Amino acid sequence: MKVLVIGAGNMGLAYAKALVKSEFLSSHNLMISDTDAQKTEELKKVSRFDVFTNLEDCLPVADIIFIAVKPYHSEDLFKEIKHLMTKDQLVISIMAGVTIQSMKDGLGITKVVRAMPNLPAQVGKGLTSFTASDEVSRLELSTVENLLNTTGKSVRLDTENDIDASTGISGSGPAYVFYFMQSMMDAAKKMGFSEHDSKVLVSQTFEGAVELFNKSDLSPQSWMNRVASKGGTTRAALDSMEDNNVKQLIEEAAYAAFDRAVELGK
Ligand SMILES: NC(=O)c1ccc[n+]([C@@H]2O[C@H](COP(=O)([O-])OP(=O)(O)OC[C@H]3O[C@@H](n4cnc5c(N)ncnc54)[C@H](OP(=O)(O)O)[C@@H]3O)[C@@H](O)[C@H]2O)c1
Repeated sequence: MKVLVIGAGNMGLAYAKALVKSEFLSSHNLMISDTDAQKTEELKKVSRFDVFTNLEDCLPVADIIFIAVKPYHSEDLFKEIKHLMTKDQLVISIMAGVTIQSMKDGLGITKVVRAMPNLPAQVGKGLTSFTASDEVSRLELSTVENLLNTTGKSVRLDTENDIDASTGISGSGPAYVFYFMQSMMDAAKKMGFSEHDSKVLVSQTFEGAVELFNKSDLSPQSWMNRVASKGGTTRAALDSMEDNNVKQLIEEAAYAAFDRAVELGK
């Protein structure tokens, strides 16, 4: 099986590197293509996969084509490659808002997977949600899952609306965590801690809390109940958050991302 990654940007490279590292594919079965000649020349020097600038040289031999260009490049790309595509090729797209139907029409194919990764894919801790057209077989779905899992975990969803919803949770979610971290670091600095100490206080707190959560069967609510004793410091902080409707504001933010994802898909 040969996989071609189109777009050697942040995400395309993250997947290409993870695929090679996982040994899911041997290196000569992984190809990567980018329009930027300087980028491809640099990649050729260091990469463990075959690098191309011209899609005519690699696309015809690919079984799976992984599209990782920006959504606004999709129309030009589709025009460029439609005549090279065959019906048995499978496309996995991570382009936000580009629908399965528009890929079927734009590429003249039927086997399409639409996926939504998130930023931690770059460190092997990503979450990719995906859904597929009916023409993708069970066996192909399992291959797709293995491929996506090289950058972390994946969740298969039923509809494209679910993909838009997952954009509001996991796709955009890392930025919500960064927002929370930044706010806590700013509070720490206001209390007099140095930049360095604020960073350590906050990052270790996040890492520790996530690890506790992952290593137990307890819900976040149960953990909150455990640490927040009546009349204590943590209870005071959680009560303040409740009084200020922080939970509702987070829900509204997630829905704002969901709604924007739906809008972008139109
Ligand atoms: N970054 C994230 O966290 C994230 C999360 C979810 C989804 N996504 C999706 O992932 C996709 C890629 O994002 P990114 O941040 O990796 O973008 P990026 O860094 O801009 O990478 C895209 C690369 O594709 C190249 N390219 C454009 N047209 C091409 C063509 N016709 N053939 C070959 N290469 C082409 C671009 O070259 P030029 O620079 O020369 O244009 C660029 O190097 C986007 O569609 C985005 O919606 C990203």
